[in-house]
Amino acid sequence: MEKKIIYCASILFILVQFNGFSQRIPSNIDEDQVPPFVLTHPLKYADGKKVKNIKEWENSRRPEILNLFKDHIYGEYPGASVIDFKVVKEDEVFAGKGKRKQVQIYLGKSKELFLNVLLYLPISKAPVPVFAGLNFCGNHCTTFDSLIFLNDNWIADNHKGVSNNTASDSSRGSQAHRWPYEEIISRGYGVATLYYGELEPDHPEGWKNGVRSLLKEELRIEPDKWAAIGAWAWGLSRVQDYLEIDKDVDAKRTIVQGHSRLGKAALWAASNDTRFAAVISNNSGEGGAALSKRWFGETIEHLNSYFPHWFVQKYNDYSGKAEELPIDQHLLLASIAPRPIYVTSASEDLWADPKGEFLALREAGKVYKLYKIAGLAIKEQPQVEMPVGKKIRYHMRKGKHDIQLYDWIQFLDFADYIFKEK
Ligand code: GCU
Repeated sequence: MEKKIIYCASILFILVQFNGFSQRIPSNIDEDQVPPFVLTHPLKYADGKKVKNIKEWENSRRPEILNLFKDHIYGEYPGASVIDFKVVKEDEVFAGKGKRKQVQIYLGKSKELFLNVLLYLPISKAPVPVFAGLNFCGNHCTTFDSLIFLNDNWIADNHKGVSNNTASDSSRGSQAHRWPYEEIISRGYGVATLYYGELEPDHPEGWKNGVRSLLKEELRIEPDKWAAIGAWAWGLSRVQDYLEIDKDVDAKRTIVQGHSRLGKAALWAASNDTRFAAVISNNSGEGGAALSKRWFGETIEHLNSYFPHWFVQKYNDYSGKAEELPIDQHLLLASIAPRPIYVTSASEDLWADPKGEFLALREAGKVYKLYKIAGLAIKEQPQVEMPVGKKIRYHMRKGKHDIQLYDWIQFLDFADYIFKEK
């Protein structure tokens, strides 16, 4: 698929060439061109009645919201199918300051289907909280350490050191800057990661070689009842299954996190799986933390055109018609309440609509308020690198769509804050 970006005054047209057929999808990056839009109040039921208290929120309105997201956007979130776990390799790292485990999580009846998790932990007498997140190109690309198993699953060719969808040694460490393991363990936290393509390769036919197809019988769900983002999110829950049996880990304090499409997956995982104590969405954009009804940056139509496998079929009904969606992404963030949530943007990442991410989080605060948890305490989006809020927190890093050391330092401060409070 070839993407061409054509600038036309302030409106951006993205020309998508797909199977020889091309279409122009308009996209706006001018604040003055954003038309007015209406958001549903999180504390009002679909029929307009008000939610009176926490009990009603938890027993009625929250399930109503989750069902709407299932039906219109992400699909079902199946239960577990984990049979067993095995720590395949354990080593001391960082001059004795930490340890590293390479773990297999067996998913089906046959031991041939497993996930490879890479876990770094500080040396500690007490169990430690862990950040759990998916990576884009195999555990081996998160560090230069040659002892990490080279991933032999399908990997997109646009990653360094990958050709014919196969990783080579030269892909080691290609995204190491996104995983500052030593920094994280030096602050007393662990970090677990897993290659998202092990759950479902990221292309329209990927489901045939992923859990949606391979675990269809065990999970009792047809592949079209969920989609790729759902499969990736579901994998994060399987990582949590493992963390719960690892004695070095305090699995009641797992923070699920993700960047970009994997941030969308992290949010969906946190919405469905309340075992995650908190969530971090980094530059997750459209279909993640950003409002869809705000016409800025990527749109539902772009998502459905470039990535038809990410969402359920029904989502196509809203291409070019976001205003008809019965929900918007602020409700996804609200469904995570009262658990702490951190949303981040990057100043040059207009495609992900930083302001739309901020506004969604601000709106979600209405539900946190029910629990007497303070919202962002600021109406306008803050300047770059001025984090705001406490348990509901936001920052906009200076620069491009990425996850950098600046972001991680803020995540660690956030973790210190939310866990110290308990
Ligand atoms: C594309 C896509 C985004 C996504 C991003 C990523 O830019 O349009 O929705 O978040 O890829 O995952 O890096």
